[in-house]
Amino acid sequence: MPRVFATRKLPGAALERLARDADVDLWPGDMPPPYEELRRRCADANGVISLLTDRIDAALIAAAPRLRVVSNVAVGYDNIDVAAARSRGVAVGNTPGVLTETTADLAFALLLAAARRIVEAERFVRDGRWQTWDPSLLLGYDVHGATLGIVGFGQIGRAVARRAQGFGMRVLYAGRHDAAPEPGVAAERVPLDALLRASDFVSLHVPLTAETAHMIGEAQLRAMKRTAVLVNTARGGVIDQAALVRALEQGVIAAAGLDVAEVEPVPAGDALLRAPNVTLLPHIGSASHATRERMASIAVDNCLAGLRGEPLPFPVV
Ligand code: DGY
Repeated sequence: MPRVFATRKLPGAALERLARDADVDLWPGDMPPPYEELRRRCADANGVISLLTDRIDAALIAAAPRLRVVSNVAVGYDNIDVAAARSRGVAVGNTPGVLTETTADLAFALLLAAARRIVEAERFVRDGRWQTWDPSLLLGYDVHGATLGIVGFGQIGRAVARRAQGFGMRVLYAGRHDAAPEPGVAAERVPLDALLRASDFVSLHVPLTAETAHMIGEAQLRAMKRTAVLVNTARGGVIDQAALVRALEQGVIAAAGLDVAEVEPVPAGDALLRAPNVTLLPHIGSASHATRERMASIAVDNCLAGLRGEPLPFPVV
């Protein structure tokens, strides 16, 4: 049987299904395998089921001569050197589509939480600081009727636009020229700088690539309204995090809601943890029971196809 290294236990029964057709070496830890261990276990594997925490780089791929498929349990694949895989004939798969709605739900939850200071308000009650109804207490920003700027108009960006219709928001988007809103969804394509200037909320939905790294830096933050809220459920590296911390400290923008960070987990003592008006989540955009089970299942489908030398159902393009 072909040999597959699975770098973590996955929700649902997908790995059991894989084990019927492959000899699965399952990493037992709750933490990712250290890089050297990952490389050692991939060295004689025919397939690997990887997570976004596993660096599948050119050196690892070169040291794994039997590798036929890398199947990432994520839609993003910035952890994989796709060019190196391709040059060695290793197929790479991801899990698009199944997590679109779940991630859009979380982007909207973050947007609402950051706008209406939900986390801060909850802490306020628990800390015993709720004395009376106060007309000036915990004032935030209205979501209904506001302008939402969506950066990146792929499946998740468009799903966020759909949600925004229900809140009566005006939706702007910046994205590839062929990206278009779904029928019945009102959204206007504008250049990024116009979007940043006009939006009350900016939500990021681009993959992390050489072109998008730090695409939101000091200049872009300064272009935004002082009352703007920035939401990121994509990848931390899309924002220059040091610039964001300064922007929050100096009131250049009002607030941020982040599900992702440049370094994950955010290291203890990191300035981001002390920044004002920021809601931080531990990269849980796709974390619903059903979606994580579906992601695991698709990853196994990709892996099995790659082991058989067949086209992957969801190849990385
Ligand atoms: C992804 O799939 O890329 C998300 O970041 C995790 O679900």
